[in-house]
Amino acid sequence: MKRKVLIIGGGAREYALGRKLKEDPRVSELFFCPGNGGTQSIGENVLLQDFAQIAAFAQEKMINLIVVGPEEPLVGGLVDVLQKAGVAVFGPSQKASVLEGSKSFTKALATAHKIPTAPYFIATHCKEALARAKILGFPVVLKADGLAQGKGVIVAQSEEEAQIALENLFKAHSKVVLEKFLEGLELSVLAFVSGQDFLLLPACHDYKKLHPNGPNTGGMGAFAPSHLCDDTLKEKIVARIFKPTLKAMQENNTPFVGVLYAGLMLVEENGQLEPYLLEFNVRFGDPECSVLLPLLKTPLLDLIEATMQGNLDQIPLELHPQHALGVVLACKDYPRQISHGQSIYIDPIDEKNACLDLGKIAQENGVFLVAGGRVCVCVGWGKSLTEAKSHAYHLVKKVQFEGMQFREDIGVL
Ligand code: AMP
Ligand code: GLY
Repeated sequence: MKRKVLIIGGGAREYALGRKLKEDPRVSELFFCPGNGGTQSIGENVLLQDFAQIAAFAQEKMINLIVVGPEEPLVGGLVDVLQKAGVAVFGPSQKASVLEGSKSFTKALATAHKIPTAPYFIATHCKEALARAKILGFPVVLKADGLAQGKGVIVAQSEEEAQIALENLFKAHSKVVLEKFLEGLELSVLAFVSGQDFLLLPACHDYKKLHPNGPNTGGMGAFAPSHLCDDTLKEKIVARIFKPTLKAMQENNTPFVGVLYAGLMLVEENGQLEPYLLEFNVRFGDPECSVLLPLLKTPLLDLIEATMQGNLDQIPLELHPQHALGVVLACKDYPRQISHGQSIYIDPIDEKNACLDLGKIAQENGVFLVAGGRVCVCVGWGKSLTEAKSHAYHLVKKVQFEGMQFREDIGVL
């Protein structure tokens, strides 16, 4: 059967999902809502105002599959609305999306099920928070208890810094999670999940900071597979983090179906790397998606459909024996401010081992313009990390726009 697919979202992640699905001969038509200036070249962008309009569009166009990219519509309940309307949709329900939507929920779940995570407190006003911060000690990690596009986490080095950050956080949020600062190496592990069944994807390194000592962003680059994640570590991640979480979600009658992304800190204890849960995301990461999809040999469509049908145990996860690396090109002043309108110049791209995933880009009269923070991801792949890196950075040289920012150390070990 041919499928008409609608992808919700408008970043490089959605472009990457669309590019991969378009390679599949079973996908006959591709729509994006809202999409971006790049997706309009691989499918059709549609502007739909709300969940009801998305459901009506899907029914009218006889869409066979909706894939939801970003967290906001998941946490907002889009999947529930579409399912009620009888539309096939890939992504977790609103109740299961609380794993990303509420950091306090996830910390409580971790504590109740002995999932390793940093000691924490939840505070509802500044004075209480500051007192808790002193108990945890400095540096301390302060997190807004809601969606914040990777920018709601502050590491305060001192009491003074914590006070200023907390005053700002409480201006916009009613709850703040305070966590003990964990020292270690970060790792992102994503899995296709259907209730308690799951297929773990190769572990990724995600570069969250603008520069090694810069502010947090939505992600400035990634590579996979990770050199750190051997079988022992993988077993610990499965046994201590994925299994108890999915069991708890099932027992709460809120089974998780979709892609679950665990953000982990690997802390060295007695010469071993021990995984601690920092956060869950209930979707593909951006830019992790751009480096994971080129590794999949099993068709993405099969993985999505098996997840939705609860048949994950019946398909093998086959991977290409290669490495992939992505470098994000961000706009001027990101993440402090988003700039718009700069023209983007792209040299012809005919590489076999690289591709450009277009993100926050607009297209006007055939010209690409910057339209948001993370403009595109230069992705390279090859037999080694070094090869993948050289293909990705070769692509970086082909893109130019005023104020372009990127990290030069993605994949430098
Ligand atoms: P989160 O959104 O919870 O993943 O936090 C964003 C980033 O903040 C993480 O990727 C880490 O770099 C940092 N972070 C979060 N929690 C901690 C922690 N407990 N200790 C050290 N760093 C943290
Ligand atoms: N790259 C981190 C995220 O997608 O949340």
